[in-house]
Amino acid sequence: MRGVDNSMATQSKTLFEQFLAPIFSHLVDRDALLRLRDSIDWEAGVARFTNPQVVYPNYYKISNFHGIKNGYLNVDAALTYDPITQYVLPPGETWVRESLVKAINGEPRRILDLGCGTGTTALMLKRRFPDAEVIGLDLSPQMLVMADYKAKAAAVDVSFRHGNAMATGLPAASFDVVCATLLFHETPPAVAKTILSEAFRLLTPGGQMLVLDGNQRTLRAADWLSTIFEEPFIRDYGQGNVDAWLGYAGFERVRTEDVFWLNQLSYGRKPLPVAERIEQPEGDRSAESAETVPLAQPA
Ligand SMILES: C[S@@+](CC[C@H](N)C(=O)[O-])C[C@H]1O[C@@H](n2cnc3c(N)ncnc32)[C@H](O)[C@@H]1O
Repeated sequence: MRGVDNSMATQSKTLFEQFLAPIFSHLVDRDALLRLRDSIDWEAGVARFTNPQVVYPNYYKISNFHGIKNGYLNVDAALTYDPITQYVLPPGETWVRESLVKAINGEPRRILDLGCGTGTTALMLKRRFPDAEVIGLDLSPQMLVMADYKAKAAAVDVSFRHGNAMATGLPAASFDVVCATLLFHETPPAVAKTILSEAFRLLTPGGQMLVLDGNQRTLRAADWLSTIFEEPFIRDYGQGNVDAWLGYAGFERVRTEDVFWLNQLSYGRKPLPVAERIEQPEGDRSAESAETVPLAQPA
């Protein structure tokens, strides 16, 4: 995404810059963004969130996501993310994100949002499950500063944590729900698979994994989408299959459904121990076997 500061260093004239950035610049209230930028103490916020133990993976350091140098390790990326994102999730950002929130079964006690960015989904999750502890984790301290600012402004109690979703350092079996929204189209598929293995480790037996992201079938059918969005890994993501990745990580009851035409929601459950499965009523067990996708070697 384009920054609000014209002096910001960017790649030379990408397709995004030539065609999409001029459109977005008309849609974004630049003065409001500058006021917001000046109202936040970024230096103090970044220092507060930065965990010096975090090691940035190579793909993250070298990729200029959305044409911005330094990708997400950048105040402009954090500032412009929300104003732009609202225009790239048809038919509407809230509707698309709600598909994930509504797909969660029961009343989870602990929810983890991996690659939480500016926290929009995490805030929605806390509003929907007020008794749950909701944690958002991201590699970008700048995005976390923005997320925390939004949560405090809205008086929504979500905690944010600097970390790598591939190896969070959080205790095993400590979350009932783990989710990732709009994360995997920005990571190499090998990273997405590692993140799903980490999510599997973090979930309690029976815990739910939800992945909301770009629609892989649509991306394969409409290659021009990958061209205009200029995400470094979006083509590889489109060639992959989140269902297969979930199955390979060990999840059962795997399924993916379209969310309008540009997005998809994938769901998997961490299996219960065998003893608990046997106690389940007959009906539940047959439903389980009908829905379970055999382990597949992921694309
Ligand atoms: C496109 S944004 C999505 C943000 C948010 N989930 C949303 O739905 O708006 C991708 C986010 O993933 C973060 N990210 C990328 N790789 C990550 C990793 N390995 N661990 C944690 N966060 C990561 C980026 O810093 C960025 O904030």
